Amino acid sequence: MQIHISKNHEELSDFTAQYLVDFIKNKPNATLVLTSGDTPKLAYQKMAVLGKDLDFSQVTFIGLDEWIGIPPESEGSCRYIVEENLLKPLQIPSQNYTFFDGLSDNLASECTRIDQLIFEKGGLDLIIVGIGLNGHIGLNEPHSSFENYCHVSDLEEITISVGQKYFTQATPLTQGITVGLKHLLEAQIAILLASGSKKADIIKRTITEEISEVLPSTVFQKHHNALLFLDEEAAIYTK
Ligand code: PGA
Repeated sequence: MQIHISKNHEELSDFTAQYLVDFIKNKPNATLVLTSGDTPKLAYQKMAVLGKDLDFSQVTFIGLDEWIGIPPESEGSCRYIVEENLLKPLQIPSQNYTFFDGLSDNLASECTRIDQLIFEKGGLDLIIVGIGLNGHIGLNEPHSSFENYCHVSDLEEITISVGQKYFTQATPLTQGITVGLKHLLEAQIAILLASGSKKADIIKRTITEEISEVLPSTVFQKHHNALLFLDEEAAIYTK
């Protein structure tokens, strides 16, 4: 596990954006899973500027997760954050990206659809994820199996309450659909992005606790090429 610490959120976002642009420059047909959330927003905005002349025609972007029952156009959907901050500004054609449909009446086939896409592409070149206060990765909540590919999960109370920040009004959330930790373990590169003092404790636990499905983020200790991109506040207990 390699840790890169940036001074603050702004510099973390600069570093992440540059990393992703360079990655695609070096592998123009890359398949990437992209996280949603507040943490990557600024990095995506910066990537949209840095990557404006980059050829994305062979790149495949896959959304990490989605809330079940939330329409894609909702500003709280996971898709919305990635589309608005990255894909639309870069004018990425819709055939180059896909997201879970949280409104699907056949969630099992949604999982199969994304699994098959990842397998057809020969696996993921890169996955970038955030971290929840309970150590969730995507919507792989505590006790999610490291052996799961895409799956549906029941959300913990903390995820439901913290998740309200993405919505303009109180929104019932109960389940999520997510790329599973087995895809993460099989990805060539796995990046964990965390910013701010509220993430400091869970980052410490991620690095120091025994690898266990009880704390999904400890999967990063198992990954052969794991990168933690942190700012100083999130990294305070790692030094
Ligand atoms: P955040 O979400 O970036 O909004 O903190 C992270 C997560 O829950 O994975």
